[in-house]
Amino acid sequence: MDDLADLLSVREPGKTLPRPFYVDGELFEEELSRVFHANWLFAGHTCEIPEPGDYFLLPVGEEELIVLRDKEGGVRAHFNVCRHRGSRIATESRGRSRSLVCPYHQWAYKLDGCLANARLMGEGFDADEYRLRSATVRELAGLVFVCLAPEPPDFDAFFEDVEPQLRPHGLEGAKVAVRHSYEVRANWKTLVENNRECYHCRVSHPEFCMSNYDLGLPGDTRGDEGFDATLEREYDRWRELGLAPEEVSFPGGSPYRVSRLPLKEGFLTESLDGGLVAPLMGDLTDPQTGSLRIITLPNFWAHANCDYAMTTRLLPAGPDLTRVEVCFLVRQDAVEGVDYDPERVGAVWRATCEQDWELCENNSAGIKSVAYEPGPFSPVTEASVESFVRWYLDQLGDDSPHPVLESPRASAGSWR
Ligand code: FES
Ligand SMILES: [Fe+2]
Repeated sequence: MDDLADLLSVREPGKTLPRPFYVDGELFEEELSRVFHANWLFAGHTCEIPEPGDYFLLPVGEEELIVLRDKEGGVRAHFNVCRHRGSRIATESRGRSRSLVCPYHQWAYKLDGCLANARLMGEGFDADEYRLRSATVRELAGLVFVCLAPEPPDFDAFFEDVEPQLRPHGLEGAKVAVRHSYEVRANWKTLVENNRECYHCRVSHPEFCMSNYDLGLPGDTRGDEGFDATLEREYDRWRELGLAPEEVSFPGGSPYRVSRLPLKEGFLTESLDGGLVAPLMGDLTDPQTGSLRIITLPNFWAHANCDYAMTTRLLPAGPDLTRVEVCFLVRQDAVEGVDYDPERVGAVWRATCEQDWELCENNSAGIKSVAYEPGPFSPVTEASVESFVRWYLDQLGDDSPHPVLESPRASAGSWR
């Protein structure tokens, strides 16, 4: 892209991005390849594909992966592209199949991607040359991540920081109790930017603010002694419970953050009344676990409470269209209508998400106006938005010098 360097050079630190970053089709293609095809993406949950042959599709721009459970019990991700003439193979968004049969001329692939049968291909045809192309897969305590790049970036540090903190929540032994799919008319970055600040929360998220402290994100300059004391007390409790609490916030510019944070007095979970909405998950024996928050750029965030977990997956579908899937997980053996009511499980986050999507669509509409020009981030409470923008620009190859805004200490009082 010829003018990418020009565009990068006009961006002013501490301000929102120039309009083309949110609307330009060519730039969108560029970021698909440099951001979404180059980094680890959250795909889904291992519990969605419990049996061999279970699969779901993961569309990433024009690319599409078939994420499946193979015969040996492993999770794999194959490009949904037939090696004969390129047809899509799977056409249903999820299902179960003993093999992958292309609907066009019925080439049949095993779950491991090997071509098992291709009719009428003549003497000398070597099926071994035509196995499905695959992406790299990593499982993390019940979450499935994929990377489309031939040489994926390091995953180990993320795994080591997050796995011990997430595992006690038992997502591997969970089920998706509620799933909401949205098409949000906004660029994917608008959704991430919205997630990286809580400047908007107090007015826009009454349900969320019932259980969550009103304090800043990483880099927030406001101090709060009461909150810090609560945090210290809860950290002691969580250590005793074996929850290994440790806040790790975008270390060295890497794309992830994990932190366990307390809920407000009287709230055992992110519910409307503070009471549990489902049985305790995984190995948890004490409901006072606070809420474990995880974000990985560019497409995932989650809150794991003691009784349910909420995950959000973004998939870019166009410069101003983002497909979002929000899932609520509860224990696999919890019985709907007896142990939990899906409405109660999803009440806080469904409201919060839908409020956010409306804010993002409004934001996106305004950015398209001739009156839009980059505006300043709050130095008090939007430092984490700037950090995200910096990370994104780095992915696009911007090598201009810039300050590191998020240090672990600066984020000690943060909350999402
Ligand atoms: S394109 Fe798949 S079998 Fe022909
Ligand atoms: Fe929000």
